[in-house]
Amino acid sequence: MAEDSGVTYPSYLALDQLLTLQRPLSQPEHEDELLFIVVHQSSELWFKEILHELEGLLGAFTRFESGMCLWRMNRINALMRIVSAQLSALDTLPPQHFAAFRGFLGTSSGSQSEQFRAIEAASGMRDPHFVATLQEHGSVPASVQRWLERPTLEALFMDLLAHEGGTLEQLYTGPAPGTLFFLAEALLEYEQQFAQWRFKHVQLVERVIGPMTGGTGGTLGAKYLARTVANKFFPALWEVRAKFFGAK
Ligand code: HEM
Repeated sequence: MAEDSGVTYPSYLALDQLLTLQRPLSQPEHEDELLFIVVHQSSELWFKEILHELEGLLGAFTRFESGMCLWRMNRINALMRIVSAQLSALDTLPPQHFAAFRGFLGTSSGSQSEQFRAIEAASGMRDPHFVATLQEHGSVPASVQRWLERPTLEALFMDLLAHEGGTLEQLYTGPAPGTLFFLAEALLEYEQQFAQWRFKHVQLVERVIGPMTGGTGGTLGAKYLARTVANKFFPALWEVRAKFFGAK
């Protein structure tokens, strides 16, 4: 049996702190603001875990450990499914309820989530518009800059592939599918999961504030967000598919 070290469930999980961190701002307090805070806070906790896994994934890639990369990718995909599923809870937030406490949020917005931007940077976002968005609120946060300076997931995957002496095309035309084929598919699965989060979020925004209402962060709201659904982390993995359908 384990020795009594004085560690308890509440002390291990720092529950006395954790459970005091939900602080609705509405006056009088709106009963739905707690749900709004909990879904955002738990998303940020999962983002923290995803970044932790991305760090491990980067290490596995640089050591050319394809099996470990696959294992990490599968876990990251499980985490992305959870983050997406959580958004459904806010589908039950009626517009008139949100309107009652939205004013208390000021100009705060999910677009200020450093962890979300770090995940995007780690995954492969490098286009000038993305970098410009990062600079909107001053300089690029150090946690994001760090990932921008590292290779993208696609570049890491291509390095691993080259290290094993293969090409993308061979992966999809070769004899029996091996670890790298499954890893390529897991990366695409990640891209799909990410786009599904983006799409569910657009639908949530349309459902709660309407398709044409601007966001608290100053964007066009759903119209702006809808454009981000098409963002791609792994263009080469998508393009290789066209080879089977007549593309040169
Ligand atoms: C009632 C629920 C929600 C509404 C009405 C809403 C609304 C919006 C709007 C309008 C934007 C565009 C930026 C702006 O102008 O503010 C945005 C961006 C964002 N929101 Fe939400 N949101 C909701 C829930 C969530 C949740 C639960 C998360 C989870 C963390 C989240 C994360 C984000 C992120 C990361 C962005 C930046 C996306 C990007 O620029 O690609 N939002 N949100």
